[in-house]
Amino acid sequence: MQNIIITGGAGFIGSHVVRLFVNKYPQYNIYNVDKLTYAGNLANLKDIEDKPNYHFIKADICDFETMLDIMQRDQIDGIIHLAAESHVDRSIKDPFTFAQTNVMGTLSLLQAAKAYWESLPEKYEGKRFYHISTDEVYGALQMTHPEGIVPPFTTKASSGKHHLAYGEKFFTEDLKYQPHSPYSAAKASSDHFVRAFHDTFGMPTIVTNCSNNYGPYQFPEKLIPLFINNIRHRKPLPVYGKGENVRDWLYVEDHARAIDTIFHNGKIAETYNIGGFNEWKNIDIIKVLINTVDRLLGRPEGADMDLITYITDRAGHDLRYAIDSTKLQKELGWEPSLQFEEGIEKTVKWYLDNQEWLDNVTSGDYQKYYDNMYKNR
Ligand code: NAD
Ligand code: DAU
Repeated sequence: MQNIIITGGAGFIGSHVVRLFVNKYPQYNIYNVDKLTYAGNLANLKDIEDKPNYHFIKADICDFETMLDIMQRDQIDGIIHLAAESHVDRSIKDPFTFAQTNVMGTLSLLQAAKAYWESLPEKYEGKRFYHISTDEVYGALQMTHPEGIVPPFTTKASSGKHHLAYGEKFFTEDLKYQPHSPYSAAKASSDHFVRAFHDTFGMPTIVTNCSNNYGPYQFPEKLIPLFINNIRHRKPLPVYGKGENVRDWLYVEDHARAIDTIFHNGKIAETYNIGGFNEWKNIDIIKVLINTVDRLLGRPEGADMDLITYITDRAGHDLRYAIDSTKLQKELGWEPSLQFEEGIEKTVKWYLDNQEWLDNVTSGDYQKYYDNMYKNR
């Protein structure tokens, strides 16, 4: 495979995937196709923007003609599709944009890939359409526990390994989709379209569903970067409900490594769940963030606990997510590389050391990067 489109490469996870592919595979041409919505930030890719195998194309995935032009002109063999509207709170306020980008955008990309690949003599041979999705499509898990044991408790996943968990059930690949938010409903719909293009037209597709990512370059509307920034500036930390909801956290570079493994070695038409068996209640993570920021800034550890402010719960707030990634670990040998404690320390340090990046995002200046750097290239 030579020519690969990565959509949404200026976003949080996409930028890590682009960086990994550009550095690891100098023989591939990587085309980062991104519309640069509020979530796209080309400064995320400063370190690789001059590499000869990296190409940025500002375009909307919903624009079928442009997608087809790019595929024909650059003779695209593989697509790793991350572009999406990704923030649940925004989807509650504006579901239309989520249906447009996540559903219609994915469909337009699929149709363009179909039109281009079916026009070639070899058709789908050696081609791949890899769709990145979320664990949120499975809905929410309960916080059940064996009698007498207060969660978190140690349990055995199908991997045979023991993990700390807040309930006995995990998200496995065979579960029925039960999305609750407009965001997850739109992602679920896009997953169905991708699978339908395999089943109907024989397109070589793969879908993966990953748990919550954290790490550098995440837009500071999401829990971890928002709260790190607020703690630094001693601003209130708006905790939804009682902070009891559970999320399963994975360091973003581990997700990018999983994407690399699956893109190259995953089986066509398969689904793989990606996660590191790392469940945390929001309130416990928030306390770790406060202690870590305080310590790294030389404040007494825990001094900023009074910033915690409980607010009205998110509408339809899913109680617990927990991924069972046994299939990926057993079949393709992927494992997370970082313990959460190391990952969170690295992440907090990164945001504290890169205050300029954060300030540019919060001030809106990051949106001038394209005009300054690219428009006249
Ligand atoms: P993000 O919001 O940080 O980035 C999304 C990127 O897509 C941005 O660069 C944006 O400009 C681009 N984009 C949006 N609409 C576009 C359009 N119409 N055309 C072209 N580009 C467009 O998102 P993220 O958190 O990096 O998530 C990336 C993908 O991974 C999404 O598909 C998301 O559903 C999925 N995912 C995210 C997480 C997570 O924890 N963040 C976990 C699992 C799966
Ligand atoms: O599970 C994967 C998903 O994780 C991805 O598909 C989404 O794109 C990504 O945004 C993320 O969704 P969440 O809703 O879980 O992430 P968020 O960072 O918005 O919230 C994490 C938890 O923290 C959630 O239970 C809500 C809570 N929260 C969040 C914010 C922003 C708060 O209590 N206060 C806040 O201000």
